[in-house]
Parts: sequence; structure tokens; C-alpha cells
Amino acid sequence: MDIEIRPLSQALGAEVIGADLSRTDDDSQLERIHQALLEHGVLAIRDQQITPEQHLAFSRRFGELEVHVLHQYLLPGHPEILLISNKTVNGKPVGLQDAGNEWHTDLSYKAQPSLGSLLYALEIPPQGGDTLYADLYAAYDALTSEKKARVSALKAVHSYTQYDQRSKQKGGRQTTLTEAQKAQVPTVSHPLVRTHPETGRKALYVSPGLTVGIDGMDEAAGAALLKQLNEHATQPAFVYRHRWRAHDVLFWDNRRTIHLATGYDPTHTRHMHRTTIKGDRPF
Ligand code: SIN
Repeated sequence: MDIEIRPLSQALGAEVIGADLSRTDDDSQLERIHQALLEHGVLAIRDQQITPEQHLAFSRRFGELEVHVLHQYLLPGHPEILLISNKTVNGKPVGLQDAGNEWHTDLSYKAQPSLGSLLYALEIPPQGGDTLYADLYAAYDALTSEKKARVSALKAVHSYTQYDQRSKQKGGRQTTLTEAQKAQVPTVSHPLVRTHPETGRKALYVSPGLTVGIDGMDEAAGAALLKQLNEHATQPAFVYRHRWRAHDVLFWDNRRTIHLATGYDPTHTRHMHRTTIKGDRPF
């Protein structure tokens, strides 16, 4: 069956109809999806029936996969799959419930942040639990030339431990990082403007939940600039809102988008599997 790619919004995103991700050795399908990802930044690949092994095999065609630092939320037997879920077993959460409750791009707190993520929806609530995506190319393009020059000279500081601490203080997180896990995610700095390694385009590389300061700026001035850039990047004109259907696989490019999961009625189940592809060092 031929694949159809239909843009989903002015900002970014496209729907992919007719793909079958269980065909992990289909090179022409892979190339179509790769090109569509580079063009649209977020792909909603509809109607997938894939096993964890097929999810992993398809994801691996784009690169090495990450194992999330929160080991307690990995799919048993498949450590490269992170469970994003509000299910519990014997009163204990099986997955990370609040993976995306602040705007971010995946693993920006690592020296080599993620290239892209594939999130497979197995169970979704009847309403809510949407995911919003913002286009960081558009955010960069819309800056004035003075602002582009100013932010291009700066690096932002990214920290998972500070995000984790904040989530705990807000009362949303059941489990926080252990001391051993904190040691695996030291603070890193990345350019505020990054060049996409495949397209050559520039993106305003903010990751609002994880960027905690600007190198060489005092705390208040750094926080004020980040607030302004975060608000700029997430303005409605740059955002696509995804309303999930069961068996969607969302494949997004972490090098040029940020995302945010919205709330839902917790008496309903939202259960998803995520693979996260390793990327390269931002430049
Ligand atoms: C994530 O940040 O990867 C999770 C997004 C979501 O739960 O919709």
C-alpha cells in the first residue's frame, strides 16, 4: 500500500496514512518516513499494530536507542522502551505519569540529546491527554536580526535534577531520582541556537522545563531571557495540538521541536510506549 502524507497544521506536523511499521526492513517506506520527518517535524503514523520488538526494530533504523535514567519505568525485558502510563500494579506506578507536563525536548539534559522519539499509544483516555508540539525553526525565523545575533552567542544550561526536584515540590511525581541516577545526569550547556545536522536549518533550542539558566549570565537575567524566549517559542502560531487515537505512533524530531503533554481525568487510563533515539552534540 502506498503511503499518504497529509500536513496537519500551518505550524508543523503531518499525518501518515498507510504505513506499516512492522515492516522494519522496507527501505522505501523508511525513506518516505525519514523525509517526511525532516519536512514536517512531527508525524502521526496512524493505525499501527506493533509488538515491542517491532517498535524497537523500526526505531533502531534511525540510530542507537537510549535507556532512560528512571530504570523503574522501563518495560520489563525491553529496557529501551520507557512506559508513559498512569497504570498501577499493587499500588505502584508502572510508568512515568508526568513525562511531559512542562514544555521540553527529550533528553536535552544530556551531552548528546535525542534525535527523535516514537511514542506508541496503546490506551488513551476518552478526552484530554493531548500532546502539543512547537516548531523551533519557526521560533528562530521569527526573531529579529538583533535578537538572532544576541542569542546565537549564548548557551543555555539544562538540568534534569532541577526539573525532577520541581516536579516533586509540585506534588506531581511519585518517584524522584536516586543519588545514583542524579550522578548519571550532570548539568550540561547547549547553544541556544542549534543547526539541524540534516537540514542545515537553525532552531531556537529552548527546552523550557529543563533549561535553568544561561552560561555567563546572572540567575535573574538568565531566567528573564529564557522566559521571554520560551513564551516566544510556544506562541499559538507555532504550535500543533495532537489529539490521540489509539494505535497512533507519534514520531517527532527532538532537534527542532518541543512538546507538552496536557492533563486528563486520572480515572481513565493513558498507557504508551516510548523509544528515544540518540542524537548528536548540538552545534
Ligand atoms: C513525552 O514527553 O515524551 C510524553 C509526551 C506525552 O505523554 O504525551
